[in-house]
Amino acid sequence: MKSDLNQADTASFTLSGKTTELPVFTATHGPNVVDIRALYKHTGAFTFDPGFTSTASCESKITYIDGDEGVLLYRGYPIDQLAENSNFIEVAYLLLKGELPSDQELVDFDRSITMHTMVHEQLKNFYNGFRRDAHPMAIMVGVVGALSAFYHDSTDINDPKQRLIASHRMIAKMPTIAAMAYKYSIGQAFVFPSNDLDYTSNFMRMCFAVQAEEYEVNPVLSSALDKIFILHMDHEQNASTSTVRLAGSSGANPFACIAAGIASLWGPAHGGANEAALNMLEEIGHVDNIPEYIARAKDKSDPFRLMGFGHRVYKNYDPRAKVMRKACHEVLDALGVREDPLLEVAMELERIALEDPYFVEKKLYPNIDFYSGITLRALGFPTEMFTVLFALARTVGWIAQWSEMVEDPNQKIGRPRQIYTGAAQRDYTDIKGR
Ligand code: SDX
Repeated sequence: MKSDLNQADTASFTLSGKTTELPVFTATHGPNVVDIRALYKHTGAFTFDPGFTSTASCESKITYIDGDEGVLLYRGYPIDQLAENSNFIEVAYLLLKGELPSDQELVDFDRSITMHTMVHEQLKNFYNGFRRDAHPMAIMVGVVGALSAFYHDSTDINDPKQRLIASHRMIAKMPTIAAMAYKYSIGQAFVFPSNDLDYTSNFMRMCFAVQAEEYEVNPVLSSALDKIFILHMDHEQNASTSTVRLAGSSGANPFACIAAGIASLWGPAHGGANEAALNMLEEIGHVDNIPEYIARAKDKSDPFRLMGFGHRVYKNYDPRAKVMRKACHEVLDALGVREDPLLEVAMELERIALEDPYFVEKKLYPNIDFYSGITLRALGFPTEMFTVLFALARTVGWIAQWSEMVEDPNQKIGRPRQIYTGAAQRDYTDIKGR
């Protein structure tokens, strides 16, 4: 990655009567940044920003979000245009390489991914160590972390060729590993990848086919799932992507970094929200119960939050939620699901929340997870698999961001500082004297 930090201004920072001049770099879109790398050296002070609400951890050219305008761009292209006109493999190429592929580039990339979809036969032994009712995200963390034990020829992160192979292997094997986690949980035999299917159709077949009969992929459903994967591929420096970058900054191999990202994504405040949102809709059960849950969401003494609402960055509508809502109705129409009680609850909850002053003032709009749960359930996936599908898609973003971090001339091992407010230095006392 070539660094494009252009200084357009200077910020003056005064502390204890001493003023320090700090460079300000301009962005293509969005906020400029104050370069505080020399702040501690010049002032002896750190900045304080738990949750990094105002801190840029890196320079990136991959994704841009405008939270107020509800904008999401992958390499400059609006997410709704990509979701409507492109497909998983082409968008994966775009995120990794920075440009849309030519015909031949796309054929070559698709072929390379296809030729890496199988996993080492011994990897299957890891599944047998899990209980059948293990959460599939627990299996994903374990099995993906174990990949570094199998692919020693692509763990040298300083070799661009090995980074490329590791990237393609990761993107190609995630659907196979995810489908195997699903099959294991329902006690069915694993289904091998099929090289004559596209990426998403191949995944659906590995999940839902059984050896006893032919399986026909429904093109409407695989197209909707392909769109869902595109929406989930990348999202700037979210918690799991920042985890992958931090793990990678120490030189850890890409498989271990992706396993760390999967672990972070699992949290209900992040990627686990789609599973939590569907569980919440099931708990609400009927539109008559919505007011009680809205009241609980507002009650500071109650930890309950409306899962699928709110976002650290989007303080307007999550543009992905709009596309997700459309895909949801496409899937339900294709399946002839005229009324889904959960969809009824979801749409009434959305209507009420968008009118309620509490949610309007706090800018809590539906996010991508609000409709994805209903759609994935309609596609036949159990709730526990929802975050696995999120991880499958986000692997493209994690790998693109990891590669960018490794190639960034400014990258250093991530090592945040702190403000210490613990005990002042004191001497040890013998237990008799305490
Ligand atoms: C994802 O970062 C990413 O980009 C993530 C993601 C991606 O693609 O990688 O977009 C994917 O993680 C989407 C978000 C999924 N999570 C959920 O749906 C879980 C429910 N949402 C909340 O946990 C929350 O909204 C967060 C975690 C998403 C955002 O939290 P913030 O920005 O840190 O905001 P906050 O927790 O400080 O909340 C601000 C206020 C608080 O009230 P006050 O303290 O100001 O009085 O809003 C309230 C919160 O109590 N609030 C909610 C709420 N979310 C925030 N109240 C009720 N229900 C909610 N869902």
